[in-house]
Amino acid sequence: MTTDTIQDPKSVLETRFVDAIRAALPDLEGEVDPLIGPSRQPELGDFQSNAAMPLAKRVGMKPRDVACAIVEKLDVTGIANPVSDESIAGPGFINISLLPEAIGSALSAMDDEDLGLPAPADPETIVVDLCGVNLAKQMHVGHLRSSVIGDAIARLKERLGHTVIRQSHVGDWGLPIAMVVQRLIELEDEGSIDTKTISLDELNTIYRAAQAQCKAEKKALDLIERVGGHAKAEAELEARIEDAQRAFKLAQERLVKLQSGDERSVSMWNRVYEITMGACLATCAALMTNITDEHSAGESTYREELGPLISDLESRGVAEIDDGALVVKVDGIKEPTLVRKRNGGYLYATTDMAAIKRRVQELGADQVIYCVDARQALHFKQVFGAATKAGYATKPDGTVAHLEHAAFGNVLGEDNKPLKTRSGENVKLQDLLDEAVVRAKQEVDSRSADFPEEERATIANNIAIAAIKYADLSTERVKDYVFSFDRMLAFEGDTGPYVLYAIARINNLVRKARDNGVDVESALSSEMTLDDPAERALALLVLRYPTMVRAAGENDEPNRLCGYLYDLASMFAKFYEKCPILKDGVDEGSRDTRLRLAVLTKRVLEDGCATLGIPTVERM
Ligand code: ARG
Repeated sequence: MTTDTIQDPKSVLETRFVDAIRAALPDLEGEVDPLIGPSRQPELGDFQSNAAMPLAKRVGMKPRDVACAIVEKLDVTGIANPVSDESIAGPGFINISLLPEAIGSALSAMDDEDLGLPAPADPETIVVDLCGVNLAKQMHVGHLRSSVIGDAIARLKERLGHTVIRQSHVGDWGLPIAMVVQRLIELEDEGSIDTKTISLDELNTIYRAAQAQCKAEKKALDLIERVGGHAKAEAELEARIEDAQRAFKLAQERLVKLQSGDERSVSMWNRVYEITMGACLATCAALMTNITDEHSAGESTYREELGPLISDLESRGVAEIDDGALVVKVDGIKEPTLVRKRNGGYLYATTDMAAIKRRVQELGADQVIYCVDARQALHFKQVFGAATKAGYATKPDGTVAHLEHAAFGNVLGEDNKPLKTRSGENVKLQDLLDEAVVRAKQEVDSRSADFPEEERATIANNIAIAAIKYADLSTERVKDYVFSFDRMLAFEGDTGPYVLYAIARINNLVRKARDNGVDVESALSSEMTLDDPAERALALLVLRYPTMVRAAGENDEPNRLCGYLYDLASMFAKFYEKCPILKDGVDEGSRDTRLRLAVLTKRVLEDGCATLGIPTVERM
């Protein structure tokens, strides 16, 4: 294990440049960006800094003079060849050539178990709110994102050495659930369903019917009040209202029964829970996310805590009565947070306040990250504000936990509208996964006809899941993206299969090397001398890995790591094209360096995929 964090050369140069700029321009105010990127003329160096141009504007000097001033103060000992005025190209680009030993030794230091990412000295406890399905409903594409992105954020935090507690805030309580429980009991009494064998699809249908039945009341009442009139219509509406009112009242009574532990109600609720969670957790497993039963912490688990929480808010004067309802007003948030309705009922926000209290004060969270649809932004703003005001986000040691809504956008269909089936229904997540697997299987069957059938099935499954997850993770989280099987399953371009293919190619290379009698084990511990620009470019990108994981993990932005893995896979392809490895005439030193570099690249690609929850394949 490495004890120190590996300093990748680019980060080291950035620090040294910022120091030089500060020294060269002591009167400069504000942020300084050293603007270091890969050199555009590799014969001049590995990196170039473009900082002189924008700085010149800020200080009113000529870019070239700024570049000279920076170069004069720049200290690159131990990392790059000396920099002088000769290193300045054009109007003021500063070229840097790294010392070959600096790259080689950084690479060998990184080529360790933890790939340059040692555990932090002060790990945090981080709760990640993810998945959050609702009882009696199928998982749809919205839950794809809260599960896949939530799990990726959790894995990133784990990879950075933090303690992560996953919590799925299952929508399993309240009147809508009581409605379906009531309806199921009626149907069971009529003998028209068998709850032992009922499927989630059937439950979903009954759920919708029960909701519609109870809702008819409000709509019909509104209508009759507005239009009044026609005797026949009125009579019909009245009948419907009565029916709806009865259903509504029965549901309310059912909720009270559920609340008080009535045996029949509770056992029917349990059945609904079992069926829903059985199907949802199976989909989570198919998606290869680490989301299991032990992570479920549904709304129902807070039900005993809501009464005391409300009393606490009232007695301490945190909440106040507003037009008959109880609200928490927070400075800077226009809309007060409603925590108890006029009729005495509690709300989504009330439960979320209780959840914050438990997560921070019992589970010990330093941070709580909510991976939930962007449309709930106001809800979380209100809940975070109200909970913080109430002191529920304060840990026993007095520090205040960081609450964050890691919002995500919509999944769109090819028509750029939210993804729906042809008949306008939500697309079932499991159906999407199944179709992706079928499509991937066709591809694998034609590409790798010589592999055994069983292996082809496994490869197809992993490619399909990788494709879906990569497509979801690689776009900026808050943006909408268009779901396209063709695009995500392509083996070329910024896709999951492309990244997996690079891994498979490197495995192939190693296999071939062994077949050719190369002592691979000794090659993998050989001294690395990097001469070719393509080797150096690949090596420098490999060395960026720890920095990229940190950037993605600290900002809850899995797309940054996806982008890096794609760049790395592309850079490997360039390297592989330019630098022969097992060909005749390649000297042993080069061969071993290149083999080791290739295998290190593969380890980074695999570790990156694992950190995002993307499955890989041995060959394809
Ligand atoms: N069940 C909710 C929904 O489907 C998501 C829960 C999100 N988490 C939370 N703590 N509110 O919209």
